[in-house]
Amino acid sequence: MTITHATELRLAARPGAELRKDHFELVHTEIGPPGEGEFLVRNDWMLLSVVMRDLMEAEPHPELPMSAYELGRPPWAPAVGTVLASRSARFRAGDLVQHVYGFRDHVLAAEGDASVTRLDPGLLPGPEYHLNQGATAWRGMVTLAGAGPGDTVFVSGATTGVGSVAGQIARCRGAARVIGSTGSKDKIDYLVGELGFDAAFDYHDGPVAARLAELAPDGVDVFFDNVAGEQFEAALALAAPEARFVLCGSLSGRNPVLDLEPAVLRDVTIRGFTTPYENDPAWTEHFGRWLREGRFVFPRTVVEGGLSAVPGALVAQLNGRHRGTTLVRL
Ligand SMILES: NC(=O)c1ccc[n+]([C@@H]2O[C@H](COP(=O)([O-])OP(=O)(O)OC[C@H]3O[C@@H](n4cnc5c(N)ncnc54)[C@H](OP(=O)(O)O)[C@@H]3O)[C@@H](O)[C@H]2O)c1
Repeated sequence: MTITHATELRLAARPGAELRKDHFELVHTEIGPPGEGEFLVRNDWMLLSVVMRDLMEAEPHPELPMSAYELGRPPWAPAVGTVLASRSARFRAGDLVQHVYGFRDHVLAAEGDASVTRLDPGLLPGPEYHLNQGATAWRGMVTLAGAGPGDTVFVSGATTGVGSVAGQIARCRGAARVIGSTGSKDKIDYLVGELGFDAAFDYHDGPVAARLAELAPDGVDVFFDNVAGEQFEAALALAAPEARFVLCGSLSGRNPVLDLEPAVLRDVTIRGFTTPYENDPAWTEHFGRWLREGRFVFPRTVVEGGLSAVPGALVAQLNGRHRGTTLVRL
């Protein structure tokens, strides 16, 4: 099967102080049938993430491990889709693939494009499950922090795409207590009632140090930080001996004021990391098994309405209105 027209969402202007829907423009284009060595993909799902806001700036942080978005072009974004037609030896019509050509409903890709990978549809319950952010959560929580039995684990930004998976990984690995911070009462209920966190608090409700001290009276063994600022300061003050801190993101945009004494006196390891948007087979294997065993939820907000719903959804996500990974059904 092939098609002749496609739609893409382009970055029309740099947002500056506030992202608005009109920073994007929906454009209809022509798309040819695959030439020799090419294959045509219909995108079924794409992922939205807060880092996209930074990538829209003319000069995003120079050390971000992703390329900035170009004006007048559809931004890159992780997506999964189905091969509709192929003249490549690598892919056949019907293959489920993952790639970085979100923000468009179809893409014509070349055989040598290493960013496109074939997915095994039997590994996870649905194609959208492959757009989880668990590879990042797994690397921080398991590979670097080694969270496991007996640990008190604190995840800041616990209802984000990454945090909501990180906390569940710690629980499935037998952590003694998993605590999350988030931005509303609804989200607290979600963490405790549906994701199996032992406790959660709203970071707007008074000093974080006081809330965390109540919930982690024996200290924090593992801290998975998505927020930085005050939440990092509180976690470090409450670090248990030989605590492991992994720094994933800084949603607050504020650097912590560091009192290093607890880090020195309690042998705390503080480790930052970045992980590209790639699937990690070890994570995917655990994710699939834990889902089948009914021990894990894939926390997600599904945006309906295709590409035209994307700008509004990104604004809503930045304003804290989504839970878990934000997925757009294309
Ligand atoms: N190191 C890596 O390799 C890597 C990879 C991917 C992502 N990350 C980082 O991981 C973090 C989570 O990413 P994500 O894509 O999972 O995020 P996301 O799901 O898009 O998170 C959006 C949520 O962040 C929260 N938030 C916004 N501003 C906040 C603030 N000032 N303080 C605390 N929370 C705030 C809001 O929830 P509330 O209601 O809780 O406020 C909002 O709903 C980000 O910092 C991202 O940059 C790192």
